[in-house]
Amino acid sequence: MTAHRLPTARSLAPTPPPLDHGGRLREAAARYRIPSQDWLDLSTGINPDGWPVPEVPGTAWARLPEEEDGLEEAAARCYGASALLPVAGSQAAIQSLPELRVPGRVGVPRVGYQEHARAWRRAGHTLVHLDDGDPGDGPGAGADGLDVLLVINPNNPTGRVWPVSRLLDWHARLAARGGWLVVDEAFMDTTPQHSLAPYTDRPGLIVLRSLGKFFGLAGVRVGFVLGTSDLREALRSRLGPWTLSGPARHVARLALTDSPWQEATRASLRLASVRLAALLSDYGLAPTGGTDLFQWICTAEAPAIQDRLARQGIWVRRFEAPPSLRFGLPGTEAGWARLESGLRCLASDAHTDVFPQAVAETPGIRPFSSISPPPAPVPAPVPGAPR
Ligand SMILES: Cc1ncc(COP(=O)(O)O)c(C=O)c1O
Repeated sequence: MTAHRLPTARSLAPTPPPLDHGGRLREAAARYRIPSQDWLDLSTGINPDGWPVPEVPGTAWARLPEEEDGLEEAAARCYGASALLPVAGSQAAIQSLPELRVPGRVGVPRVGYQEHARAWRRAGHTLVHLDDGDPGDGPGAGADGLDVLLVINPNNPTGRVWPVSRLLDWHARLAARGGWLVVDEAFMDTTPQHSLAPYTDRPGLIVLRSLGKFFGLAGVRVGFVLGTSDLREALRSRLGPWTLSGPARHVARLALTDSPWQEATRASLRLASVRLAALLSDYGLAPTGGTDLFQWICTAEAPAIQDRLARQGIWVRRFEAPPSLRFGLPGTEAGWARLESGLRCLASDAHTDVFPQAVAETPGIRPFSSISPPPAPVPAPVPGAPR
C-alpha cells in the first residue's frame, strides 16, 4: 500500500510520547492477569462516590448544545467567579493555553501533573523546573524571571497548597510585565477557601477547574477556564463550537447546582482521607503529603510495593521521581477491608526477603522494610465515610 503524506500548512512538530496516568486499569489487568472487575483501583484521585447522575433527557442527545442552558451561570456561582469558559476537561485548556502566547520562560513544578510541562514545551516555551513548585522570592529571580508561572493548587501528587496572598503577589509581579499566573485547581473543590476564582477578572490570572475529581465525573470530560473575557475569547476561538456535548452540559449544570451534595461530600471526603492516612501510617506508610482525595508516600521501595499490591489486585499509582506512591480512596467498606489486608501482607513481607534492605540515599525517603507492622492493625470505621 502507498503511504500518503497529509497536506499540512506547516510540517508537524515531533510529538512527545503520551504520558502515563493513573486509572489505566486494563493495562494492569493484562499484565497481572487479573480481570479488570476484580481490582481495587486506587490509582486515581477521583472521588469513588461521585455525584449521582440522573437520566439524561432525550433532547440533550438529539439537539446541538446551546449555551443559554444556565451551565456557565451555575459554574460561576459554584466557583465564586464572575465568568468562565466550559471546556472538555481542564486537559483541553492545559493543551491549548500555551499556544496563545509567544514562546517565553515558564515555571512549572518539578513534581506535579506533567501534562502542563509537556504542553508548554510542545508549544516552544522554555521550561524552568521549580522544586516544590516554588519560584522563590529573590529580586530578579522567582516570578520576576518568568513569563508564565504554572501552579497546581493543591498539587497532585504532593498535596502542597499555596496561600491566596502568596499567589496574588506572584500574579501582580507577573501581570505587571504582561505575564500570566496559571493556577490548576483540579483538586480545589474540597478546600474552596484557597481558590483564586474570585480574582479571575484580573488580567493575567487564569484558573482551571475540573468536574473529574471531587464530583467523580472524570468520564464526562467537563472543565472550566476562569479568566478575563479576551483570554476566554481567544481560547474559545481556538477550541471551536460545541466543546461540551449536550449530555455533558446537562449533567455538569445539575452537579454544580447541587450544593447540599457538595457540602456533604466535602465532609465525608475529609473523614475518608483522615482514615486513609491513618490506615497507611499504621502499616508503615505514613503519607508525605496528600489532599482529601488521595495520599502520597515517598518511599524508595515504591516499585516493590506497587508490584506486591498489584499481585493482590490492588492498583496504586507509582511515580518515578521521587520514588513514590499515590493511594486514592476506597469507595466501599469491602474496599477498605481489602486495602487493609493488602497492607497487612506487605508489612509481613517487609520482614522477609521480598523487599530490598537497601536504605534510600534520597533525603526524606524512608525504606519501607525498616518499619515494623503495627501491633493491632484495626482502624475504627469512620462514620459518614464514602461507601
Ligand atoms: C492536577 C490535574 N489537573 C488537571 C487534570 C486533568 O483533568 P480533567 O481533564 O479531567 O479536568 C488532572 C488529571 O488527572 C490533574 O491531576
